Amino acid sequence: MIKSPTESKTVMTDLVLPSETNSINTLFGGELLARMDRAASIAAQRHSEKVVVTASVNHVAFNNTIPLGSIVKIEAKVSRAFRTSMEVYLDVWYTDNNFNPPIKANEAIFTFVAVDKNRNPTKIPQLKPETAEEKKRFDGALRRRQLSLVLAGKMKAEDATELKALFN
Ligand SMILES: CC(C)(COP(=O)(O)OP(=O)(O)OC[C@H]1O[C@@H](n2cnc3c(N)ncnc32)[C@H](O)[C@@H]1OP(=O)(O)O)[C@@H](O)C(=O)NCCC(=O)NCCS
Repeated sequence: MIKSPTESKTVMTDLVLPSETNSINTLFGGELLARMDRAASIAAQRHSEKVVVTASVNHVAFNNTIPLGSIVKIEAKVSRAFRTSMEVYLDVWYTDNNFNPPIKANEAIFTFVAVDKNRNPTKIPQLKPETAEEKKRFDGALRRRQLSLVLAGKMKAEDATELKALFN
């Protein structure tokens, strides 16, 4: 079976409340990570139609702080499927208390693995990107997977062909 990224698209919209902020009254990073993990997990379940676990947080950059009272929108989509694992790409925006147009706060990339009832990794459908952005993210996913596996000690650096190509 081949699915499109749109089939996994998950949008979560929520407020920033006082208990979710740090000492400078902006959204606490760990709170945003938890929200992103939830959205990404739903996207991965929608794609695989299986139970999924978070295998890796590949990249997170907090580019903009998100003030108390903001409305935060997280969009998650599977960007590439491998055998049992899949990359999920997240985009985060917020609207401030003055209801200015949404501001991009950050992007993040997670890897999920589908598991069977014995919690063993299990095969998932493949993914065919459609838009230009989906194709770009699909193409970069193999490189990011190799980096994640090398850092986790699960792949030898010399086998990371996509990564090596980046530097050559
Ligand atoms: C994720 C988990 C299922 C992987 O199990 P494993 O025994 O390493 O399985 P495998 O080596 O067969 O790897 C399974 C897939 O995960 C991928 N994978 C494993 N670790 C990875 C990492 N750090 N980064 C990217 N992909 C990874 C493998 O490449 C493989 O992908 P593929 O089948 O698409 O080729 C297992 O480590 C686990 O259950 N971890 C705990 C997950 C959890 O509890 N998460 C909640 C947050 S704490």
